[in-house]
Amino acid sequence: MYNTLLTELTNGILTITINRPDKLNALNKEVFADLNKVLDEVYSNKHIQSAIITGAGSKAFVAGADITEFNGLTIEQGKALAKAGQDTFFRIENSPKPVVACVNGFALGGGCELVMSCHFRVASDNAKFGQPEVNLGLIPGYGGTQRLVQLIGKGRAMELLISAAMIDAATAFNYGLVNYVVTQEELINKAKSILTIINTKAPLAVAACITSANAVFNETQNGYNVEINEFGKCFGTADMKEGTTAFLEKRKANFSGK
Ligand code: COA
Repeated sequence: MYNTLLTELTNGILTITINRPDKLNALNKEVFADLNKVLDEVYSNKHIQSAIITGAGSKAFVAGADITEFNGLTIEQGKALAKAGQDTFFRIENSPKPVVACVNGFALGGGCELVMSCHFRVASDNAKFGQPEVNLGLIPGYGGTQRLVQLIGKGRAMELLISAAMIDAATAFNYGLVNYVVTQEELINKAKSILTIINTKAPLAVAACITSANAVFNETQNGYNVEINEFGKCFGTADMKEGTTAFLEKRKANFSGK
């Protein structure tokens, strides 16, 4: 079904593995096409409640955009490349279903940008993060200059962006870039155990939290107004009636996603 991805759906969680381990899972055009295809699936398949993105092998999550595809591009082609990458990562960020990054090694350049577009991150203790683009005479183009500042603050982000320094998993945890650091063996199970809990919550309310929290960083929207709207919309859902009724009846809610 995909040339560059492996997928496995278990208990409502789709695990997406970027599968070019001999190239440290670098993001080429084919990977982007497959990511867009799998995102269509995440958005539309009602059996998928949430997703994990990880990299094949034990060395890298994703070591960046595929540098071999940069050669000979014009300024306009460079802009188009960045726009296409940003569009894909916006689809991850705005997915109504939670998408968690399991960072199992190098997450550099576009790999770090991919990780940051996910809703939150779990890392293995060998993970390394960085935006090394200035080594190539480039800058991050898939949202990295924006999301790194959002996630770890301007001072730390600026230093990483302009020095191309790599940080280890412990530092990423300290900076708030990742929520957990576990062993490689525990990595996927850690994310699955969190998603298993999230998957029991009201899906439309989960999606409304994502929409509202993302609005903080969207200059075209007032986040408080988005929250008012999303909060109000919950009152029109069967799940809100079920959730509040179940609480009052002292039983577990059984959500339908409606
Ligand atoms: N694009 C294309 N190919 C890449 C790549 C990338 N971003 N990152 C790694 N690869 C390829 C290497 O060219 C090599 O391919 P080869 O075996 O055909 O020569 C293979 O993946 C293994 O990488 P290698 O560099 O030999 O591994 P290493 O252990 O010596 O170094 C890294 C690991 C991550 C430090 C190093 O690969 C690296 O610096 N990668 C580029 C990181 C980067 O600049 N990313 C931002 C891109 S915008």
